[in-house]
Order: sequence, then structure tokens, then C-alpha cells
Amino acid sequence: MFKLSKIWFTLFIIKKLNSSVIIKFKLELSNKVILITGASSGIGFELSKVFAAESCKLALLSRRINILNDLAEELHNKFNCKVLPIKCDVTNENEVRNAVEAVINHFQKIDIAILNSGKSGRTTTEIVSHESAKEIFDVNVWGIFNCVKEILPIFKLQGLGTFVGISSLAEKRGFPKSGIYCASKAAVSIFLESLRVELWKTNINVLTVKPGFIKTPMTEKNNFKMPFLIDANKAARIIVKGIKKEKRIIQFPFPTVLFSKLLRILPNNIFEYIASKT
Ligand SMILES: NC(=O)c1ccc[n+]([C@@H]2O[C@H](COP(=O)([O-])OP(=O)(O)OC[C@H]3O[C@@H](n4cnc5c(N)ncnc54)[C@H](OP(=O)(O)O)[C@@H]3O)[C@@H](O)[C@H]2O)c1
Repeated sequence: MFKLSKIWFTLFIIKKLNSSVIIKFKLELSNKVILITGASSGIGFELSKVFAAESCKLALLSRRINILNDLAEELHNKFNCKVLPIKCDVTNENEVRNAVEAVINHFQKIDIAILNSGKSGRTTTEIVSHESAKEIFDVNVWGIFNCVKEILPIFKLQGLGTFVGISSLAEKRGFPKSGIYCASKAAVSIFLESLRVELWKTNINVLTVKPGFIKTPMTEKNNFKMPFLIDANKAARIIVKGIKKEKRIIQFPFPTVLFSKLLRILPNNIFEYIASKT
């Protein structure tokens, strides 16, 4: 009994020390230059608003420049935020190179790169076309790779920087009718993990965001029940809170995280039996 309470007390002290260290080193966001891909919709759109409220300078990238221009005007009027909207298809290496160059010319640095652009698709492997399967991988995986390739030399020159890659809790298992999407997000998580390990001894951080279901245009078309669905603004606030704490893995909401962890440790044949019934 005495031993147990001793262990509990030690764990309590470690937890307290840990949280005080986290508070001490909480990342200050004011005046930071944040690059966000996929800022024209959903999570990226809401992240732009949350960062603007934190007095950040923003470089907003996506293909729909008209939406970015309107958002830039709104953020400037509301928060006096300096915003650079840039038309960029993340699957195109040249466009990414030009966009990053434009950000450096304008702001002279990049502090945080949020690699959020994404595409989903929900259909069986039998039905999915080569074009849409390839597009999902191009945007979700190669889009992140293209951005990392252009931004990493800048972070190295600066001697610091933070990559925030948006993966998904869908990376945990091969869910039916979303094989390509799940595979792309598993690739994203593993790629970011490798990058984090490669950059371990530097001042360049790599954070991975794994959301559950979020209410955005991406999930609007889903015709199935999405448990613990949360709105995009709440998701953006959770992500920014995690970035401030420099959490390596930012995953939410808690019940979906717990459920996906349970699915992960289920024996394969049991998971496959349950998943085949959905
Ligand atoms: N919603 C969810 O439940 C959920 C859950 C887990 C993870 N996620 C991930 O979170 C991220 C954001 O998703 P969301 O729900 O906010 O989706 P969304 O509302 O559909 O937004 C997707 C964004 O990606 C951009 N995009 C797509 N293709 C692009 C390309 N080729 N080049 C540049 N930008 C491109 C779109 O901008 P343009 O069309 O203007 O280019 C748009 O701004 C994605 O990576 C997604 O996989 C979402």
C-alpha cells in the first residue's frame, strides 16, 4: 500500500514538473509568419482566423485565389493582420517553389508551415478511378513532400522552424470504401515521423495533427453517421493550442482517439470481421 502511494506521488510530481516545463516553454505566436496550405476552406480557413487573432502574419495558399483574397481582406479589417494570399497547387513543384519564394520576398522568413491541403474520396477500390485515386495521393502525400522540400532549406538557414502536417485518425486502419484516403494518411504520418527523427538534433520541429471527424466541406458529402463530429473552428483552436505546447502528436477528439487506439490493437481477424459489416 505504502509502495503504491509512493509510486502515485512520484508520478504526480513528474506530471506537475512536466506541465510547468510546458508552460515555461509555451511557443509565443505573436508576429510569427505562418504559412498555411489549403486555407480556402474548412480547417485551413478556420486556422487562418485563429492565427490572425494571435497577431500572426499569414501566407495563405490554395488554388481558389478569389476566396483567399476575400479572407485576406476580412482578416486585415478585423485583426489588422498582414496577409499574403497566393494561388498555389501543392501538387505542382514549380508552383510550390514560386509560392515559398514569394513568402520569403514578402516576409523574409517562415516560422511555422501548416501543411493542411487535402482531398478525400469515399468509394470502393472496384469503383474508384485511377485519376481520383492518384489525385488523393498527389495532394495528401506529394503535396506535403513538395512543401517540405522547399521549406526545409529555409528552416535550416534560419536555424529553426516548425512543420505541422495534417494527417488523420483514419491512418490507424484500412477502413472500407476509403482505402486510398487511409493509405495516404498512413503515408503522411510515417513520412512526418521520419522527418521528425531526421531533424531530431536540430531546432526544427515536426508536429503531426490527427483529427477525427470535423464538420467541413470535405465531410459534408458523407452520408454515414460521423461519431463525435466537431466544428472546424473548435478543431482549429485545438490545433493552435497543441502548436503552442509544441506537442509532437496533436490528436482529437478524445473519444475518437480512444476508439481508434482500440481498433489499432484489435487482432486483425476481429477488426476485419467488424469492418466488413459496416
Ligand atoms: N474534415 C475532416 O473530418 C478531417 C479529418 C481528418 C483529417 N482531415 C484533413 O484535414 C485537412 C483539411 O481538410 P478539410 O476537412 O478542411 O477539407 P476541405 O474543407 O475540403 O479543404 C481542403 C483544402 O485543401 C485545398 N486543396 C485541395 N487540393 C489542393 C491542391 N491541389 N493544392 C492546394 N490546395 C489544395 C483546398 O483548396 P482549393 O480547392 O482552393 O485548392 C481546401 O482549402 C485535409 O488534409 C484532410 O485530409 C480532415
